[in-house]
Amino acid sequence: MLPTPRLQARALTKRYGEVTALHPLDLTIQAGDVFCLLGANGAGKTTTINLFLNFIAPTDGTALVCGIDVTADPIGSKRHLAYIPETVMLYKNLTAIENLEYFAALATNEPFQREQLLGFLTEAGLRTEQADQRVGGFSKGMRQKVGIAIAIAKGADVLLLDEPTSGLDPKAANEFSELIARLRERGAAVLMATHDLFRAKESGTRVGIMKHGHMVAQMNTAEIGHADLERIYLDHMKD
Ligand SMILES: Nc1ncnc2c1ncn2[C@@H]1O[C@H](COP(=O)(O)OP(=O)(O)O)[C@@H](O)[C@H]1O
Ligand SMILES: [Mg+2]
Repeated sequence: MLPTPRLQARALTKRYGEVTALHPLDLTIQAGDVFCLLGANGAGKTTTINLFLNFIAPTDGTALVCGIDVTADPIGSKRHLAYIPETVMLYKNLTAIENLEYFAALATNEPFQREQLLGFLTEAGLRTEQADQRVGGFSKGMRQKVGIAIAIAKGADVLLLDEPTSGLDPKAANEFSELIARLRERGAAVLMATHDLFRAKESGTRVGIMKHGHMVAQMNTAEIGHADLERIYLDHMKD
């Protein structure tokens, strides 16, 4: 028998009046999968992610996280999830480790020792001396590392990321890809919306192209080259 998928959409649908933001979507994401959602603005990427987060209610269909229906058991499903938006919200007057301590305690109801917290930050790619700096002065990439450290502390089985690398310089984006690879090795499942075809091919195990609320193509990244992905993507963007 197959293991319980980390994420599953069953005819998942979202309509806003006349606009169908997401046409019935069936999607299964297993542990170790990094699924990248590609598509133009307005294609339905954020809608898909927000449905799994239960930020919005589906018009039809079901979103499951580790087998848990997110509408029936929002708290239970959130226990498995970590969410990294484009801008990770942190308290700018607190240091990285203080932010982590606060948000990790909030997520797990557990106190963590300084050594453990430092371990999570290091694992997320922050340097030791950065742990005690206020995040007010942090770059976007550094804030995301704190967000990843929170996800690691929480032991999240699933990461949902909405355009995490937009606005990152190439080096920071590369570091981010390495982080994603490490999370995948830990057995997490990742669903990530991105405009970065190169990174999607590099860090994704699968990519899905969305257009006007439809998933129009899905591929395994191992089976295609960078140029293929770009060509397929651009072909789908033609009207
Ligand atoms: N709250 C809302 N009310 C009405 N329409 C919305 C709302 N949120 C999103 N949409 C529409 O749903 C579609 C998909 O949006 P979205 O999922 O944000 O796309 P993406 O993240 O791929 O850019 C768009 O046409 C958008 O205008
Ligand atoms: Mg979006």
